[in-house]
This record gives sequence, structure tokens and C-alpha cells, in this order.
Amino acid sequence: TRRSIIRGTGHYLPERVVENSWFEDKLDTTDEWIRTRTGIERRHFAAEGEATSDLAIHAAKAALADAGIAAEDLDGIVLATSTPDFTFPAVATMVQAGLGITRGFAYDVQAVCAGFVFALANADAMIRGGMAERVLVIGAETFSRIMDWSDRGTCVLFGDGAGAVVLEAAEGKGDNSDRGILASDLNSDGRYRDLLYVDGGVSTTGTAGHLRMQGNLVFRHAVEKLAQTAHRALDKAGLEQDQVEWLVPHQANMRIITATAQKMGLPIERVVLTVADHGNTSAASIPLALSVAASEGRFKAGDVIVTEAIGGGLSWGSVVLRW
Ligand code: ACO
Repeated sequence: TRRSIIRGTGHYLPERVVENSWFEDKLDTTDEWIRTRTGIERRHFAAEGEATSDLAIHAAKAALADAGIAAEDLDGIVLATSTPDFTFPAVATMVQAGLGITRGFAYDVQAVCAGFVFALANADAMIRGGMAERVLVIGAETFSRIMDWSDRGTCVLFGDGAGAVVLEAAEGKGDNSDRGILASDLNSDGRYRDLLYVDGGVSTTGTAGHLRMQGNLVFRHAVEKLAQTAHRALDKAGLEQDQVEWLVPHQANMRIITATAQKMGLPIERVVLTVADHGNTSAASIPLALSVAASEGRFKAGDVIVTEAIGGGLSWGSVVLRW
């Protein structure tokens, strides 16, 4: 069977690192509160003038180098973001230009924190359907640009960054026979808009707006829905949870990650954790975590990896793959 395998990964984090203590003289908060309630210790913020596409281009080049393929060999770019440079065109087209290529398609996917999972499932479906051989899938965000810096319940949680993977068609022969993306499970429920949204936009206020979140309600949905979607994806792949080697979760909050790992019967050593150093980078968090773990050589060929994420929409989902 034709499948898509991850041929390479890459990531980029802006230079500026902001420790929790930075917020202490600006807001009624403490390093201790942020650490114990979220697991976040620091995050990266993009420099002035550094746009989402800039982060994405760095990550894209790193992923191509890791895959050992030229940008010209890509059939398309799918980029997940909720913080695009401009209303249009798609950030993916700026990445395409930044890579110096002119062939293939390039478009954005918008599913907030679940964006990368949606984009990966989307690119996988195109590859399996024969529409493309190689697709660059990117998650890139500059959430620092939509923070309300007076809202301690949100502005301490998010960071900026980008991660990318090169997906390639494999015909399921030889060494690659059981590798690749095995199953995806995607979900949305628009009734929950008000739990997590940005209060601005082109067709309403004409402004970029700020992120608004009812954190404790999102938290409850996350703990319930993430394990459910991961289990559905595993079911579709014909796998049991004890066959999972790695959980690569969306990195929003350590307590959500721990609860999900518990529901999946996975010890925390089997979970890739970057939340302490990156904060919540929305659609960038999973490809960032994948790339960091891959560059450390933590995944072995044949390992079953489960990714899962939930975010604004609400939208949530999971992709199961064999490394
Ligand atoms: N420092 C100190 N106190 C704070 C801070 C802060 N930074 N933020 C909130 N508090 C206070 C609240 O004001 C509240 O005070 P009160 O009791 O006097 O009203 C108290 O802490 C408890 O607030 P809760 O919101 O109940 O705290 P909780 O333990 O739920 O933690 C948090 C809040 C971290 C936001 C948590 O709910 C969470 O992580 N939620 C999920 C966030 C998430 O995953 N978003 C997902 C996806 S993001 C996307 O799609 C873009």
C-alpha cells in the first residue's frame, strides 16, 4: 500500500528567550505559579520585524537538509498557522518563494493548536491519493503578536516558533513496508467558539485582535478529548495502546499532557516534552517536538508514534505513524 513517510524534520526558534520571571514585574504572577500550573519555564519570542514566514523558512530549510532533498523536488507545501504574516496570501506561498521554487502548490491550514495534525493528515491524504510525491508540512506561529499583555491567564502560556517535516510517498516495499502515517482522526465542534478565540478579524473588527480563553474549560475538554481521539486513531491503525512507543503531544500544559499519557497507559518517559522550554507554540508545537526528539536520536525505526492536539474551534485530532 502507498503511504507517506517522514523523510526529514527541522525546526527554528527565535533567538530571544523569555523566562517566567520576566512577567513578575509586569503582572500579578510568579515563576512558581506558571511552573507548577503549566510546566512552562521559558518561551521564545520573535524579534520585531520577524514574521511567521521567516520562522517557517528556517524550519523548512532545516527539514529539507535533514531529508537530503532539494526544494525543487517538493510537489507542495501545506502550512498550519493562525498567525499569518498577512490576511493573504498564504504564508506557505512566502515559504515557497523563500525556498526559491516556483512549482507545486502552497496553501495554509487553520485549525489553531490542532493545525499541524490537520495539515499532516491533509498532506498524507494527498500523497496516498496520488496527488503528490513529496509535501513539506509546516507549523509556524507568532502568538506573541496576539497576546493581551494585561491578561495573566493567557500571555504567560504562549511562545513563537516553527517546525517542519518532509513527507514522502513510499510504496510499502522492503524496509519501508510498515513505516509511515498509519491513521488520522480529525474532529471539530464549532459550538465551543467562545472558549478560545481571537477577538478581531478582517470581516468583523478590521483589527488583528487578541487571544481570549476560558482556560479551565479548555482544560476540561482537552483532558477528555485528547485521549479519545488518540484511541480512535490507534483503532483505525489496528493498534493497541501498549504498542505505542512515543506520545508527541501538543505542548500546551504539562498537566494536560500528564493526564493524557495516563489515560493512554504511557509512562512519562515515553512522552516527548518541550513545553518547559517552548511554552505553547500552537500549530508549531508538535513539529517542533518531533524535530527536537528526532535530532536527539530518540526515535528508532519502527517506533509507533502518536501525536495529538486540541485548540480553538474547538478542533482536535490525532495522527498515528510508524517511524
Ligand atoms: N499567575 C497567577 N495566577 C493566575 C495566572 C497567572 N499567570 N493565570 C491565572 N491565574 C489565576 C486565575 O486568575 C484564578 O484566580 P482566581 O481563583 O482568583 O479567579 C486562578 O489562577 C485559577 O485559575 P484557573 O484558570 O482555574 O487555573 P488553572 O489551574 O485552570 O490554570 C491554565 C489555568 C494554565 C490556563 C489552564 O487552565 C490551562 O492550561 N488551560 C488550557 C489551555 C490550553 O491548553 N489551551 C489550548 C490550546 S491553545 C490554542 O488552541 C491556541
